[in-house]
Amino acid sequence: MFEKRLLLLSVLFLTPKQLSAAPQNPLDSVNLFIGTVNGGHTFPGATIPHGMVKVGMDTDSPGNHAGYDGDPQYNVTGFSQLHQEGTGGAVPLSNFKLFPIHNCTIFEQCLTTIDSRKIKRKTLPDGSPDDFATPGYFSTNLSNSIRVELTATRRTALHKYTFPSESTTPRILIDVTNDGQISGVDPELDIDPDTGRIMASGNYAVSFGPGRYNAYTCVDFEGFDYDFDGPIEYGPYKINYPDLWGTDLAQHYYSWGSEHGGLVGFPANLDSINKTSTILARVGLSLISTEQACGNAEEEIPDWDFDRVVRDSQEQWFDILSRVQVDTEGVDDNITTLLYSSLYRTHLLPADYTGENPNWESTEPYYDAFYCNWDTYRTLFPLMSMHDPVNFARIVRGMIDIQKNEGWLPECREMGQKSFVQGGSHGDPILAEFFIKYQNQAEDLGVSVDDLYAALIADAEDTPKNWNIQGRQADIWKEKGYIPSDTTYRGGANTKQVSRSIEYAFDDFAISQVAKLLGKTEDAAKYAARAGNFINSWNPNITVPDSNPNITGFFQPKFANGTWNYTDPRHCSVNDPLQATCFLNAIRRDGFYESSPIVYSQYVPQDTAKLIELQGGKERFIQRLDWIFDNNYFDSTNEPSQQIPFMYHYADKPGMSTQRSRMVIETSFNTSVNGLPGNDDSGAMGSYVFFYLAGLYPLPATKQILLSSPYFPSISFYNPLLNTTTTIKSNNFTGNPSLLSDSTGLTTGNILVKNVTIDGIPYKSNCYLEWDDVFSKSTTVVLELTDDINVNCGSDENALPPSLSTGGYD
Ligand SMILES: *[C@@H]1O[C@H](CO)[C@@H](O)[C@H](O)[C@H]1NC(C)=O
Ligand SMILES: *[C@@H]1O[C@H](CO)[C@@H](O)[C@H](O)[C@H]1NC(C)=O
Ligand SMILES: *[C@@H]1O[C@H](CO)[C@@H](O)[C@H](O)[C@H]1NC(C)=O
Ligand SMILES: *[C@@H]1O[C@H](CO)[C@@H](O)[C@H](O)[C@H]1NC(C)=O
Ligand SMILES: *[C@@H]1O[C@H](CO)[C@@H](O)[C@H](O)[C@H]1NC(C)=O
Ligand SMILES: *[C@@H]1O[C@H](CO)[C@@H](O)[C@H](O)[C@H]1NC(C)=O
Ligand SMILES: *[C@@H]1O[C@H](CO)[C@@H](O)[C@H](O)[C@H]1NC(C)=O
Ligand SMILES: *[C@@H]1O[C@H](CO)[C@@H](O)[C@H](O)[C@H]1NC(C)=O
Ligand SMILES: *[C@@H]1O[C@H](CO)[C@@H](O)[C@H](O)[C@H]1NC(C)=O
Ligand SMILES: *[C@@H]1O[C@H](CO)[C@@H](O)[C@H](O)[C@H]1NC(C)=O
Ligand SMILES: *[C@@H]1O[C@H](CO)[C@@H](O)[C@H](O)[C@H]1NC(C)=O
Ligand SMILES: *[C@@H]1O[C@H](CO)[C@@H](O)[C@H](O)[C@H]1NC(C)=O
Repeated sequence: MFEKRLLLLSVLFLTPKQLSAAPQNPLDSVNLFIGTVNGGHTFPGATIPHGMVKVGMDTDSPGNHAGYDGDPQYNVTGFSQLHQEGTGGAVPLSNFKLFPIHNCTIFEQCLTTIDSRKIKRKTLPDGSPDDFATPGYFSTNLSNSIRVELTATRRTALHKYTFPSESTTPRILIDVTNDGQISGVDPELDIDPDTGRIMASGNYAVSFGPGRYNAYTCVDFEGFDYDFDGPIEYGPYKINYPDLWGTDLAQHYYSWGSEHGGLVGFPANLDSINKTSTILARVGLSLISTEQACGNAEEEIPDWDFDRVVRDSQEQWFDILSRVQVDTEGVDDNITTLLYSSLYRTHLLPADYTGENPNWESTEPYYDAFYCNWDTYRTLFPLMSMHDPVNFARIVRGMIDIQKNEGWLPECREMGQKSFVQGGSHGDPILAEFFIKYQNQAEDLGVSVDDLYAALIADAEDTPKNWNIQGRQADIWKEKGYIPSDTTYRGGANTKQVSRSIEYAFDDFAISQVAKLLGKTEDAAKYAARAGNFINSWNPNITVPDSNPNITGFFQPKFANGTWNYTDPRHCSVNDPLQATCFLNAIRRDGFYESSPIVYSQYVPQDTAKLIELQGGKERFIQRLDWIFDNNYFDSTNEPSQQIPFMYHYADKPGMSTQRSRMVIETSFNTSVNGLPGNDDSGAMGSYVFFYLAGLYPLPATKQILLSSPYFPSISFYNPLLNTTTTIKSNNFTGNPSLLSDSTGLTTGNILVKNVTIDGIPYKSNCYLEWDDVFSKSTTVVLELTDDINVNCGSDENALPPSLSTGGYD
């Protein structure tokens, strides 16, 4: 339904030059509606890559975390300017909803509250809503026949409302207090009676932390295809009482929690009989002041040219998405759509709020909306390394600037406020990921290597007063090598102790990698040793109740005195007898966050060889992986599971990894509105799906990338900084067979990697690629495919992917 119209629109908006420059237009393969029902919380509205403004439809759906819901039973409540992508927690942002009102007869009687004004969308014959979206553009038809179109620049939204010809006084409302959480207080609103300009602001709650923030807007109006001098009616409103000719809220704001905003009416387009009236609303945003919001709008959209803004946005999206090119011969269109839609969603957050940092002045870039690094460090930033290092460098600079001003790197951050830490200090592996790949370019990209290293050391060594919103429990980690499970230890309530211990170990590994590259041998050794601390939380004697006794040994909560507490390994899995969840909850003392102990007991990316040893050797390790999948412990909705399908690589069974990872895609991800198993987590899930389809899985903060077979006969990555193209080609590609329909579960078709050459030279491993061999220069990697599940990593002594304890990563 969406796809046919997508083609039409992008051909319309893209210039011929771009179309001829690339063999295929990736924008045609982006479906923005994937994951817009049942908890995906994806954002299908209009934005530029990493834009601050994300303008889109808000609905009364309980799952309106990104405003929109793809289920047409939900009503439209407005079109607001700021959203996040795929988040959990409370509903974020959704500030300053605009809403078109076409049919109230008298200004004072217009119904303005969110509940009385809301309205359904039109639906198409197949029952889906009459909504359309392509990168940089969104449109819908409301059931009262008002058509709404949206586009955006970095800090400004442009709305286009087409009222039906019956509409004698087209009116537009600006809602100040109803953000996503309906948390707005201290609303201010001023209307310029001559121009209709509305300047407004309020104070709102963040969605994943204790803070509040101020937001400011500046809205101007113009007729489209006709002129008017200004509004013919205007006034602020409280609840359902618009006050004609009022110019501010001052006399109207007498109790917080009520609904407040402004309403303006314009002359209809009477140039010819039965003409629709189209009004443009230009909405500037700022976290600093209404004046700055006006300045942003005037600077970014001085020409009011809606199509120009769409085109500029599409050019930016084209530039980024076309860095990945695929040969689609023999590949289902759905797979190509899944690839580019996933790639698209990795470029929404974090967002570029440069110039809008409410906390301090700086000449550095300012990025916000880290939501959260716990989700994104594993796959989103490694994907950025492969095709977008320049933006990555700007994000890193912004993070370092936050550390310099606040003492610690950001972990979870919204609107200048520190939000809840989910686990470790995962700014560390993000900075390390950048540095390990771009050490030689860092200074040219404006990244101070000294500052970067100092930021890492601050996370690793300094304990903040409130480690729930920044940094880590560094003092206790340094002293004990694990976070004790005692409910109160050294004066603080502990949560997520076991998962945090495991994550701190990985964060220290990331730091050791940077130290090593900088020639800081002592630090490198110190942090590599701390990276091995995961072992302190390993209890070798635990088995799973009523299950295979071969599966022995799990991470478990440990007290400060060295004795163990016990958490059932099934805890928080689908098989948990208590049906517990491991979401953020201050009173939770069971040690684990967003995954079961079974899943966390596979999470040691820095030292899988050691994990294999702890789990009883390769054969037992493979048995455990099979048992995890066969018993449904793999959790496609949360990040700690993401590497598990690829872990067979370390036991020299890469064919099993290919099979398992493809099974995950087939069972959990598709291109429908219901195509995500859970929240997109700021694009973290998108980046993970992208890697699986590319036949790759990254080890963040290292130079190694695990290798399987891509879903395409060839896929290439263009790196605009290095001016290099890396192509991975498969010989004997015969398509992507359905694995579910295979009764033996073993024959997989020609998708298994049996041999790898790089520029014609046989490679040391069939199981991983080295960044320096493949991605830091233009190369062609050729895979020879087979249908033999018993392929291996090769006979070279370095054929297995590296692990710390076996001397890897040197
Ligand atoms: C949409 O709004 C109407 C009118 O307020 C209401 O009756 C209906 O329940 C709403 N739909 C949903 C799904 O909440
Ligand atoms: C305006 O439209 C709403 C919903 O479309 C309808 O319920 C209401 O009666 C209409 N009012 C007028 C004055 O036409
Ligand atoms: C809305 O209606 C217009 C014409 O009335 C049509 O061109 C458009 O395709 C419809 N759908 C959307 C989502 O804009
Ligand atoms: C204008 O609208 C009226 C009522 O819908 C219709 O009867 C008439 O034919 C229309 N006139 C034109 C010129 O479209
Ligand atoms: C595991 O059990 C063995 C045998 O009972 C015991 O010697 C050992 O101390 C136990 N290890 C732990 C960590 O509890
Ligand atoms: C445990 O492992 C042994 C060999 O390692 C195997 O023979 C046995 O079947 C396994 N037990 C189960 C329940 O899988
Ligand atoms: C260790 O600490 C735990 C938790 O405070 C306590 O329950 C347990 O009795 C202690 N064990 C020893 C041997 O001190
Ligand atoms: C041991 O773990 C259980 C289950 O999570 C918890 O209820 C109990 O408080 C813990 N014991 C101590 C001493 O912390
Ligand atoms: C493509 O995806 C759509 C939406 O999920 C689905 O309806 C369709 O069957 C898929 N087609 C193929 C060939 O897989
Ligand atoms: C980038 O590389 C291509 C060929 O690989 C070359 O033609 C082009 O001149 C290079 N561009 C720059 C800016 O170096
Ligand atoms: C392709 O597959 C065929 C049959 O499976 C085999 O004979 C041939 O050698 C393969 N070609 C390459 C380039 O691997
Ligand atoms: C892999 O392919 C290359 C090029 O065809 C060949 O030289 C090499 O011997 C092959 N290696 C293996 C292990 O088959």
